[in-house]
Amino acid sequence: MLVTTDHLNLDYTFQGLSVADIEAYAKQRLPETFNAAREQLLSGDYANPSEGRNVTHVLNRSRHSVTAARGGRNRFCEVVRSLRSGKWLGATGKPITDVVNIGVGGSDLGPMMGSFALREFADDNVSHDLQVHFVSSMDGGQLYAVLPIVDPETTLFIIASKSFGTIDTLANVDTVKRWISPQLSESQWLARHVIGVSSNNQAMSQFGIPAGQQLSFADSVGGRFSLWSAIGLPIALTVGANQFSKMLAGAHAMDQHFATAPLTENIPLLLALIGVYNREQRGLNNVAVLPYDGRLRYLPSYLQQLDMESNGKQCDRDGIPIDYPTGPIIWGGFGPNGQHAFFQHLHQGYDAFTADFIAVLHRQAPGFTPAVQEGLAEQQRLAVANCLAHRRLLWFGNGDTYPGQSPTNLLYVDELTPESFGALIAAYEHKVFTQGVIWNINSFDQPGVELGKQIAKEVLAVLDGHSDEHFDESTDNIIKRM
Ligand code: F6P
Repeated sequence: MLVTTDHLNLDYTFQGLSVADIEAYAKQRLPETFNAAREQLLSGDYANPSEGRNVTHVLNRSRHSVTAARGGRNRFCEVVRSLRSGKWLGATGKPITDVVNIGVGGSDLGPMMGSFALREFADDNVSHDLQVHFVSSMDGGQLYAVLPIVDPETTLFIIASKSFGTIDTLANVDTVKRWISPQLSESQWLARHVIGVSSNNQAMSQFGIPAGQQLSFADSVGGRFSLWSAIGLPIALTVGANQFSKMLAGAHAMDQHFATAPLTENIPLLLALIGVYNREQRGLNNVAVLPYDGRLRYLPSYLQQLDMESNGKQCDRDGIPIDYPTGPIIWGGFGPNGQHAFFQHLHQGYDAFTADFIAVLHRQAPGFTPAVQEGLAEQQRLAVANCLAHRRLLWFGNGDTYPGQSPTNLLYVDELTPESFGALIAAYEHKVFTQGVIWNINSFDQPGVELGKQIAKEVLAVLDGHSDEHFDESTDNIIKRM
């Protein structure tokens, strides 16, 4: 049960499903409308009804991508070149050495995962060493760590927010504005130390970001699907615009595979159908994501948002309540370390689950001595051996106190490259999309999160003394104590 593409391979042998099983299940669960829906997604015509717009993230990586975006792409590349070459000077004439991406959710997880995963592919035709940092949490916990190690005169902040209205991001930005003084005035800071990335141009202008430092993207690109757009700036700053394009090319290759490969050789379709089967036929409500390469350690958090924010729904595309299970809980962690933490429960615990193992078979280690290279190659083999071993034990058990029978996928790449990374992420996007079509839900909105934000505003108004609204006894008690 092995499916291969140029960049990504799927072995679903340990799902216990034959090709005939998959075909039969697809007949049962894949709606007749699926082909049309897929075509619409790939051409940017798929509808997001509750938000009244289309879904267009795929266009960001298409070779035939809308020329309207070209102006934006040029500015993106200029920004990348200027910052990576050290030519971008701060307001006091010093080159920028540090970039801090302030954003949350899709404006943080994708760029952070990609920058971390692809660091070693950085185009080395730049002499300037640019450090990229990430700040997302509304409590300021990450600012505590970053601000002491950067200098206002040599630091540039990317304000990354599709809406440009997310309180988490604006709160971090507000604290940064207090921190730049006395070295910089606010106008100096805005003129040379801020780049806005958003689909809300008006809000960026109102904030005072100069037009040349605004990178916009279409509001039809969902936050959790936005790393291919200007939101991917930290990735491009880490690896260079050429390598960033290779990541887009890998995703584009996966788009074509998704569009044309027959059902039983189509990785996203198989992932989707197997996932629905596990959810509906085996009653498995959770998927562990287990990358066996440290460069992919942020993948589980990224997939958590991609899948759970998209398919954790209790109403259909028309907003009508549904009574069947939809997207599962996604969790996981870096596999080798997970072995020393939660794997015991996977092997012998009571709870049922399914998992995706993700492995990288080979890794180059340029820049090291042959002896160290040999050591690192051995470590890569060690990691793959452990991945294969635990996957075996989870499926076969030992016929005694290890029950086995936990169905898992193995996704693997020969090498982690910008292309294979792009293909891997795009495959998961299409899996999530396909499951959304099967469950007849809108995978492109997040009404529960929006409602939570609204309630948080009401609670904050009471904490700030602007309202005397009452909630419930527990909440009121804590507010009183605070
Ligand atoms: O969590 C809700 C959400 O709207 C996500 O969908 C989004 O990625 C995140 O907040 C950040 O939103 P923005 O990019 O608009 O700041």
